[in-house]
Amino acid sequence: MPGSGFIRVMLMLKNLAFVIATSMAALTSLAAFANEEREYGEYLAGECTSCHRDGANETIPPIVGYEVWAFVSLMDTYRNGERDNQAMVSVAKSLDEEQIKALAIYFASVEPKGN
Ligand code: HEC
Repeated sequence: MPGSGFIRVMLMLKNLAFVIATSMAALTSLAAFANEEREYGEYLAGECTSCHRDGANETIPPIVGYEVWAFVSLMDTYRNGERDNQAMVSVAKSLDEEQIKALAIYFASVEPKGN
């Protein structure tokens, strides 16, 4: 059939355009989601910053600037009893996974301040 090669190419391009458009939409909503998580984390962080300041020269360790996974595993050490600081055990146990993830995303985005 004459021209069917052209039609096939056009159909392929149309599919490709569709795939690109849907991936862009997915990426945009992923970014929006990450931003929402960060904002939720910032909101939850109000409970933490009364003890945790962002300076280095404090008795209570600063918790800003950790990688997300590192932050989550630190929180796990209080949840699973590996660390037994009473204040932190009760803080960590009062949070669910979603909240810890949001906090991790937020605190990872805060630059540590040297002092
Ligand atoms: C009542 C004071 C207090 C509050 C409130 C508090 N923390 Fe802590 N946090 C501490 C102390 C004290 C330590 C050090 C404990 C230890 O030696 O294990 C600590 C340690 C940590 C650590 C480990 C840091 C490291 O470098 O080892 C993380 C992570 C952490 N806190 C996260 C949080 C988060 C998130 C919140 C809020 C949801 C929070 N903390 C609220 C007192 C507090």
